[in-house]
This record gives sequence, structure tokens and C-alpha cells, in this order.
Amino acid sequence: MMRTHTCGELRPEHAGQTVNLCGWADTVRDHGGLIFIDLRDRYGLTQVTFDPHDSQAAWDAAQAARGEFVLRVTGVVQPRPAEMVNSKLATGGIEIRGTAIEVLNRALPPPFPLEDAKAAKVSEDLRLTYRYLDLRRAQMQRSLVLRHKISQAIRNYLDSQRFIEVETPILTKSTPEGARDYLVPSRVNPGCFYALPQSPQQYKQLCMVAGLDRYFQIARCFRDEDLRADRQPEFTQVDLEMSFLTAEDIYSLIDGLLADVMEASGHPRPALPLPRMPFSEAMGRYGSDKPDTRFGMLLTDLSDLFTGTQFKVFATVLGQGGVVKAINAKTLAGASQGTIDAWTTLAKEAGLGGLAYIRVQPDGSWKSPIVKFFSDAEKAGLQERLDMQPGDLILFAADKVDVANLALGRLRLLAGEEAKLIPEGVFAFTWVTDFPLFERNADGGLTSVNHPFTAPHPDDVPLIETAPLKARALAYDVILNGVELGGGSIRIHDSELQARAFRALGLSDEKIKTMFGHMIDAFKFGAPPHGGLALGLDRLVMLMVGADSIRDVLAFPKTQKAMDLMMNAPDKVDARQLRDIWIQLDLPAADEEA
Ligand code: AMO
Ligand code: AMP
Repeated sequence: MMRTHTCGELRPEHAGQTVNLCGWADTVRDHGGLIFIDLRDRYGLTQVTFDPHDSQAAWDAAQAARGEFVLRVTGVVQPRPAEMVNSKLATGGIEIRGTAIEVLNRALPPPFPLEDAKAAKVSEDLRLTYRYLDLRRAQMQRSLVLRHKISQAIRNYLDSQRFIEVETPILTKSTPEGARDYLVPSRVNPGCFYALPQSPQQYKQLCMVAGLDRYFQIARCFRDEDLRADRQPEFTQVDLEMSFLTAEDIYSLIDGLLADVMEASGHPRPALPLPRMPFSEAMGRYGSDKPDTRFGMLLTDLSDLFTGTQFKVFATVLGQGGVVKAINAKTLAGASQGTIDAWTTLAKEAGLGGLAYIRVQPDGSWKSPIVKFFSDAEKAGLQERLDMQPGDLILFAADKVDVANLALGRLRLLAGEEAKLIPEGVFAFTWVTDFPLFERNADGGLTSVNHPFTAPHPDDVPLIETAPLKARALAYDVILNGVELGGGSIRIHDSELQARAFRALGLSDEKIKTMFGHMIDAFKFGAPPHGGLALGLDRLVMLMVGADSIRDVLAFPKTQKAMDLMMNAPDKVDARQLRDIWIQLDLPAADEEA
């Protein structure tokens, strides 16, 4: 037996026992003849002392040890004297009096310090290059352990609800989830490509046609899209699908799942059912389809107050069918001109012509370039509807309703942060329901808001041809603290309706057949009503551990440029490998690329 205990296990009741511990030398300190080694493994840290009087050989080996050496230590457990007890350490009541030491492996000095506080200041690229060292840090190990516990809790919960885990292929056909596909050339089928799944969407629906009734999978998904803090090119979904259901079944299933995840993460279970709001309210009041409900500062529609206003900017917008909306950024009246200018730039990027504002002075008077245009009735209306108090800053957006909402939604988040209104340690879940079925794409055509298998609201089916942008979908997202945790929908299970939805998206019959013929065919063989959802597991774990980025909860994440710096992937391959898969590289010269 190499070790009798882990480095996190020994307590005063083990006093007197001779033990063997294995681990890494976290620190090696020489205190006037006594050498202290903190030995570390996944379970914790144990202090070992070496006295030359106990064993000169052990002392010599201890003195030669360096940080990150791999050691096997033999010694006797001793309670620490009361004044030496370290209450911050689970093993802080004891130490090991070392009698022998075996160097299992030597180590080069790590290229960056492995203490959490110090590592946080090191460039992330360096940490990712040596990820196996970065993962030795206590914080990273805690995150990975919690990720495991969360996956475990999810598996147990879904098993208890009669779901079965089914694995679906990674080499498959292009799936329309809205991002670019990762393609894999086929050697045995020249000129043909697999796509890596953006999600197992079609397979899970086909599992329902197959009569599996309740499917789930902790599934790897691949999307070639621009990366952000909460996006990775490959990520993990808790993907599920069920038959013979209503949306209510999904809500209550996921409510229970998220409550179990909260508990497994050491947080209080949320009150159930989780709150819900329709998409129209999320956009209208929060300016976002993923509302952060941890704080107020809601968008207020002032359009009716300003019909007939003398203020040209508002009058013009209202005359064109637009809206005037505002938020009350509480306590921010003293925001610097620099801040206001930065927000104005952001508002313009979001499509607004400008950003009108009012600062409410300590004496209650208003400081603003625009109030001189307001009538007394308009001022009184503003005062009342926005509950304007000394110290408040009012920000206005006048534009088409979608533009005004999105601009104010983004400003709301910045202002909420600036005013420190967003509480720490709060978990605000909400469902967003009743998404629209379609939206306009950049070319003026239609795309699915969710994906093309989403069922329309039964009342809105005729609108697919007559007024597609007005049709609601039986689609829902679940949001936590302003982050989209997951989304799904009730699906179309009728081949005729599915074909109508594809046609509305501008797909020719020919294209429908080549891209989705297998789905349309399957629906002709007795597809049950079905629906489901997928949760982003990385995002869920990120929020449960309080990390800022999903990279912190993935063992081996990729950089913003989709690189694995440790493996150096992607990388060039030799010409022979390319020939095998019928690929000939014809890269543009660098100056052509731009
Ligand atoms: P959707 O595309 O909304 O739905 O994805 C579901 C959830 O997956 C997470 N997610 C991501 N996480 C990290 N990096 C990414 N690049 C990334 N993209 C998505 C999000 C998101 O809410 N097939 C449908 C689900 C269904 O209809 O059942 C789907 O994939 O948390
Ligand atoms: P202007 O008349 O263009 O100088 O604008 C007067 C004020 O209204 C300035 O503070 C602008 O930033 C602001 N403003 C202009 N367009 C808009 C808009 N669409 N929404 C909100 N404020 C605006």
C-alpha cells in the first residue's frame, strides 16, 4: 500500500498512528533546523515536520525537496499544541512527525505560482499552456469536483424521473442550430463531410419517434462561433427530450432539476415553481431576452406622455411609430461626464441617435440639456412615473421599440453594476416563455428564433404564411442572473406542418428533402407529440461556483481564438494525411486575405 491516508484526512483522533502520505510538496520551509513540508493532494494539505534527531536521512531528503516534488512520507501523527492549531485547515489540529521520505519524482520549478491568489494575476494564456499545473490549484480542483457532483445529481434526478441516457453520434450531418459547423472530411467518401453536432437535436427527436419516451444525454456540442466569456467552441449540454407532454411538464421537471443542482452545490433550494415571464415582458421591462431579475431599474414606456411634445427628437420618433422609454438609474446623478459619454457611445452602437438624460440634483432640481423643451405636464408625468428622487439619473431612449429596448437593456446592466445594485450571492432564476417563432435575418428573410423544429402556438399556425413575424412559438428559455442557462421547445411532430415551417424559412422543396428528408419521413411513421430542452452545463457550473468565465469550470478549455494552447491545437498536418481525405490546401496569400 503506497498510502494509508489522503492529505485531507488526519485529525487529532489519529494521534500516535504511523501513517504514509503521498502528494506534492506545496511548500518547503526551513525553521532553524526543523524542516516543514506541506504535503498536498486533491483532498487537502497536511503539515509534515522533519527533525534531524529523528532521522538524519529523512531530514537530508526533506532539505533537498523543492516545491511540486512528488513525495511519499512516513511519520507519526501528533496533535498540535493549542497555540499552533490552524483553524483554516481541515487537518490543522495535527502534524506528522516525519521519519522517512521517498522522492517519487522531482519537478522543475512551475512557470507560475500555484497559489490561487497569485495565479489569478498570471496571464491566462500561460496558465492554459500548462493547464495540468493550473489544475493543481485548490480553486480549480474545487470547481471540477463540484462539476462532477452536479452531473451526478442531474443523472440521479433524471433517472428517478424515468429518463434513460442514450449516446448519439459525434460524426453526423450539419444541424441548423444557427452557428457554423465544424466539418470532418470523409476518407472513404471523397468530397463528403461529416459535421460535428451543434446539439443532438435531431437524434433526440428521432429517439422519441423510436418510442424511447424520455431521453437524456450529457452531450458534447460543437459550434464554430465567435467566442465570449460564456461561450466555447465545444461545450456540454444536459440535453433531454420527452414524449406526450405539455410545456408545463418541462417547467416542473427542470424546476426540480435546478433545485437539486442548487442543493448539490451547497446553496439553498429555490422556492418552486420558478418565476416565469413572457418574452414580451422580458423585452419590454428588462430590455433583454435573458433578464437579470436580481435588481429593478425596469424600463418605463413614456410614449403616451410625450405625444404632442415640443422636444423634436421625441416628436420625430413618435411620429414614425417609435417609442420613448427610460430607466431611472438610482443614485447615479453624479456619474462623471466620461461615464455618460461612454454610455452615449454604447447607445449609439445599439442604434440610438443619442442618449438624453436628466440628473436630479441634491436639491431636487433637474440638470439636463433637454428639460427646457418639456411642458409642465410632461415634467409632472416623468416625476410620477419614474419616481424621481435627488441623486437619480434618468436615461432616455427614443427609437423603434426593439432598438430602444435593447439599448436601455444594455444600459440597465451597466448602470446596475455602477450603482452596485446587483446583490452578491443571490440566485435569481426565471423562465422566459412565448418566444416568437421567426425573426428577420440580415438578408431580410426569416430565420427561426429557436430552431426550425419548434412548434408554433396552436392559435398562430395560420400566421406561418400570412404574418410569420407575429406567430408565437411554444418555446422557452431558463435564465439565471441574466445568463441563458438553457432553452427548448415543444416540437412539430406532423410532417405537413414541418414542411410549412421549412418553406416559411425560404427553403426550396429540393433543399428540404436533402437537408431534412429523414425528419419529414420519420414524422410520417407515427411520431408522438414531443418536446424538450437543453441546459448549458458549463454555464450552470460557472454560476454555481461563482466563476466569471466558463473556461474556469472546464478542465481543458480553448482560448478566445479557439486554440488549445497546451496541445497546440489546431495544428498543421502532413500532406499525406491531407491527400487521404482528398483535401488540397490553397490558402490565399496573406495580403489577399484582408
Ligand atoms: P440552445 O442553442 O439554446 O438550444 O443551447 C442550449 C444551451 O446550451 C448552452 N450553449 C453554450 N454554452 C457554451 N458555449 C456555447 N457556445 C454554447 N451555445 C449554447 C446555453 C444554451 O442555453 N437543441 C436546442 C435545445 C432544444 O431545443 O432542446 C439547443 O441546442 O446555455
Ligand atoms: P439633439 O437635438 O440631436 O442635439 O439631441 C438632444 C439630446 O437628445 C441629446 O442629449 C441627445 O443625446 C439626445 N438624443 C438624440 N437622439 C436620441 C434618441 N434617439 N434617444 C434618446 N436620446 C436622444
